[in-house]
Amino acid sequence: MEQLTYGAFSADLHQRQAGQRSPMQVSIEVTRRCPLECQHCYNNLPMGDQDARQREMTTEEHFRVLDELVEMGCFWLLYTGGEIFARRDFLDIYTYAKKKGFIITLFTNGTLVTERIADHLVAWRPFAIEITLYGLTKDTYERLTGIPGSFDKCMRGIRVLLDRGLPLALKTVAVSTNRHEIPAMKRFVEEELGVQFKFDSMINPRIDCSFLSAAAQPARRRQAAALEGYDSCPKIGWKVALQPKKRKLRFLTQKGCVRNWVGRSRSTLRE
Ligand SMILES: C[S@@+](CC[C@H](N)C(=O)[O-])C[C@H]1O[C@@H](n2cnc3c(N)ncnc32)[C@H](O)[C@@H]1O
Ligand code: SF4
Repeated sequence: MEQLTYGAFSADLHQRQAGQRSPMQVSIEVTRRCPLECQHCYNNLPMGDQDARQREMTTEEHFRVLDELVEMGCFWLLYTGGEIFARRDFLDIYTYAKKKGFIITLFTNGTLVTERIADHLVAWRPFAIEITLYGLTKDTYERLTGIPGSFDKCMRGIRVLLDRGLPLALKTVAVSTNRHEIPAMKRFVEEELGVQFKFDSMINPRIDCSFLSAAAQPARRRQAAALEGYDSCPKIGWKVALQPKKRKLRFLTQKGCVRNWVGRSRSTLRE
């Protein structure tokens, strides 16, 4: 059987789909609910928010969207939120997507990851899992996330995934509250945990245009530039700034919609 590197496989697929305006990479925000209250977050509502829950697509609606995405030529899926594991049915949605053959990345804060979830991910292995680590110390982490006990839950989630050899990478957002810990975070993550670490100093407005805390200011540009030397993937820190003006097309689904940048293969699905 012919074998391809992942890079060659990806380049080949992109070349075949070039010019077809198919959404090859789609990000799906399965919920806006989250157990944490990060100062900087653009997209979080309380776990018990009934209105937010009502607005979420149902499990069956997610299955239908996945069927449609297969038809449209999508290969890469990113599941994010809010917190993906805030949804009780998230593993059902995820497993359906795996069975459809998508290449799946999961963004999570790690605090709700249990042994049961980790075992399921071993059976249905994602392409990548990224956990955001909001501080190296409990004090900084919980000042940023606003929830006592969340640091220990995050560290437990990281351990549970690492113990099973799952493809984990850690990252952070560089904001006023945690910027002093970023070099030490990088050392801890890369040298002690042995996984990739990156950070991003770009902060976006909230999607509902409400107020972002002053403490959530990004690390000032000069400091972020100095920190960039610590970033194992330096371009990531400036990716949003480098994006051209986004023009969006809307299509698909009754409740959700896929937003596709014109002429691009990456799309976001939110309520
Ligand atoms: C919205 S979260 C969802 C996934 C998960 N709850 C987490 O925290 O990783 C996705 C990523 O966006 C980052 N983020 C949150 N609010 C942001 C903002 N206003 N600007 C830029 N990045 C933000 C988070 O820190 C996290 O790394
Ligand atoms: S953990 Fe993620 S979704 Fe939750 S509040 Fe923090 S950034 Fe937002």
